[in-house]
Order: sequence, then C-alpha cells, then structure tokens
Amino acid sequence: MSFDTTALNRRRHRFEGRSQVWLFGYGSLIWKADFEFIERRIARLHGWSRRFWQGSHDHRGTRESPGRVLTLVPDPDATCIGVAYLITPAVFDALDQREKNGYLRHVVPLAFGDGTEVEGLLYLADEHNAAWLGPASDAAVARQVAHAQGPSGANRDYVLHLAEALRALDADDPHVFAIERLLRESATATGA
Ligand code: SIN
Repeated sequence: MSFDTTALNRRRHRFEGRSQVWLFGYGSLIWKADFEFIERRIARLHGWSRRFWQGSHDHRGTRESPGRVLTLVPDPDATCIGVAYLITPAVFDALDQREKNGYLRHVVPLAFGDGTEVEGLLYLADEHNAAWLGPASDAAVARQVAHAQGPSGANRDYVLHLAEALRALDADDPHVFAIERLLRESATATGA
C-alpha cells in the first residue's frame, strides 16, 4: 500500500442520500478540530485501545525521522473514550487529506452518555499500511516522540495536548499517560 490513502478513502464511502455523518476522533481529532462541525459529543467506542504504533511522516515527523501517532488496536475488554463530531460529508475531503498517512475510514458503533447509539466513521491505521511502526516499549516510544518534529509541530506536543484533552474528558488511558509521564520526566532531567 502507498503511504497516501486519500484516493482509497474517497472510494470507501460515498455517503449517498446522507446529509450528516458522525466522525469519531480518538487522537488529534479530539483536540484539534480544524474543520466545521454541527455538534460535538463525548462518545465511547467499545473493543478498541489507543496505541502510538502509527508512523507520522507528514505531520509530526518526516520520512527520515518519523514521529509516532495514535491508532486503535482491537482490545475486547477496553472502551475508548473520544469525541464524536456531527459533520457534513463534504468535510471528508479535508479530513482525508489530514489523515492520509496510512489511515482508512471505518464504520463503527458509537455510544453516547445518555445511552443512545449511532453509527460513526473513524480513521484507523492497521499493520498493513506503509507508515505502520508497530509496538515498542513505552521508553522507546517516548524517546522517538521526544526527538520527532514535522510540519505540524513537535511530536511531543501531540502527546501532551492529547493527555490534557483526555483529562478534560475524564478519560483514563494508561498508555497515553505513561508516555506523557516519560516525556515530562525526560524534559525535567535534561532541563528542556
Ligand atoms: C484521530 O484523531 O481520530 C485519528 C488519529 C489522529 O489524527 O491523531
């Protein structure tokens, strides 16, 4: 698969007859909503967990020195808390560009706090995409994140913004908070 999934995503869902779609954000889409939306709600996705296993060659790193950004991995007992945005299908043109480094759109069931359930779309990067990095120890992830930088800024800021946003949602995520802690500790140790 090529790095750029824009064309693949365009073919995946045509949204015929739909004027509104729920988009589920679990990573930067939680705290960086640079697109128009009609409504924003906290939502839960059952059976998936966040992992910094996806490479970022276009936003938080480069081809030579990729950053690590989030994807979701199947985890039967887990619930991923994120944010659902109600958007028009036209917004996917910009979203497909933003998430083009290996992410594909998938349809998922989402649950809201009031017990209602809706169908949503999210961007998922699996092990078959060209930008996949895969598992690494927390220490290795934090080391890579600490050094990576791309057109959208420091990889470190991606993690720190996300950790703050998750706290604001009252969402626990041991993986994200462990990497955040290591980044803050190493900044203190180096005086950065
Ligand atoms: C998401 O936020 O839902 C996808 C991953 C990212 O862009 O950080």
